[in-house]
Amino acid sequence: MPQNRCPFDPDPIYAELRGTDPVMRVSAPAGFDVWLVSGYEDARRVLGDNTNFSSVDASSSHLMGDPDALGGTPPPGVLLRYDGDEHTRLRLRLAREFMVKRVARLEPFIRQLVAEHIDRLATKQGPIDLYREFGLPIPALVISEVLGVAEEDREEFEKATAAQVDLTLPLEVRQQAAANSAGFFAKLVASKYEQPDDDLLSRLIQEPTEQPLTFEELMGLSLLLLAAGHDTTANMITLGTYALLQNPEQAAMIVADPSIMDTGVDELIRYLSIVHNGVLRKATTDVQVGNQLVRAGEHVAVVLESANRDPRFLDAADSLDLARSSAHVGFGYGPHQCLGQHLARLELKIALPELLRRVKGLRVVTDVESMPFKNDMLVYGIHQLMIDWDEVVA
Ligand code: HEM
Repeated sequence: MPQNRCPFDPDPIYAELRGTDPVMRVSAPAGFDVWLVSGYEDARRVLGDNTNFSSVDASSSHLMGDPDALGGTPPPGVLLRYDGDEHTRLRLRLAREFMVKRVARLEPFIRQLVAEHIDRLATKQGPIDLYREFGLPIPALVISEVLGVAEEDREEFEKATAAQVDLTLPLEVRQQAAANSAGFFAKLVASKYEQPDDDLLSRLIQEPTEQPLTFEELMGLSLLLLAAGHDTTANMITLGTYALLQNPEQAAMIVADPSIMDTGVDELIRYLSIVHNGVLRKATTDVQVGNQLVRAGEHVAVVLESANRDPRFLDAADSLDLARSSAHVGFGYGPHQCLGQHLARLELKIALPELLRRVKGLRVVTDVESMPFKNDMLVYGIHQLMIDWDEVVA
């Protein structure tokens, strides 16, 4: 990222493209061609249409990584990459678990988790890395609660999940951590068959249905929930804190009235749009998108961070204004729209106001020029956010 521009803004090229080439053929870093969609209406047009577009290649790694993986059969349970009836079957089974009402039951747990992690700061000497000490553990422990990971295994679970996204560790260590997580989930799912409890996996196993989920599907689902819900929320907590400290009048509004986050949380998600570089779809028929005809078999990458800054859909789209409520595509759109969005909102609505309220004199100690932004990753954020503070209050 050029250091002379706002680190929360998308690449400036998108502002130009939205005007001149809103649907443009480009070469993806992985070496295959895609149609890049940068405007808000076109983004919704593509993401909302599962008749003409397939999600089979929607895995995040395809755009940056190995193009040979394109078109492969999605692993069982990874609903992000399923279409039609198979997607609906998996989505419906999970939807109940992530409804507002069900998620609201987690509020006391999340409040306690956030309080404990802020209490822990009080025992430490700054500066510390907010991403590692606060951003990462909270969503990891929330997912472990949802899935029903036993108390005594949570520390191991949290360490293994954090290691997978820690780029300061060598690749082999990260790969080993991913393998450990897969082994961990295999044991977890098996234990829920033997001894069901009050958690998502046990309910999925026990619910009477004509088409029970298989062991492999439950494994795939668990890994997907971790992959989709952990680092995303961790980056929102960390980058969100930084964005609020850089916009002190917005932070002050939250401290004065935390309920502003009822709308503000979506504005923050829109403004930061951390799922970067394109959500991938494959055309199943010849289909018109904006001014271009996309041929069957071609890929389309929808650039959420650009769509969310489209001035044709929102005035002053480049500024952060927590007092407004606006639609956005930060959680995607259409049939695959984020399943965990209510949970992510709840975590952010608790974590950010509590941090700002309790940690007095909270400040970032690294200059923006030397801040390690995640320009190289599909989920944008900061690899490390060194903070210091004056006092932690009750
Ligand atoms: C602020 C945090 C989050 C952001 C920005 C985010 C963003 C997204 C986006 C953009 C998609 C759409 C992908 C596509 O259309 O191909 C998505 C899908 C999904 N997200 Fe999230 N997400 C977040 C948190 C979570 C959490 C906490 C969970 C669950 C624990 C979760 C679970 C999922 C799942 C399962 C899907 C796939 C849904 C489907 O294919 O039907 N996400 N998310």
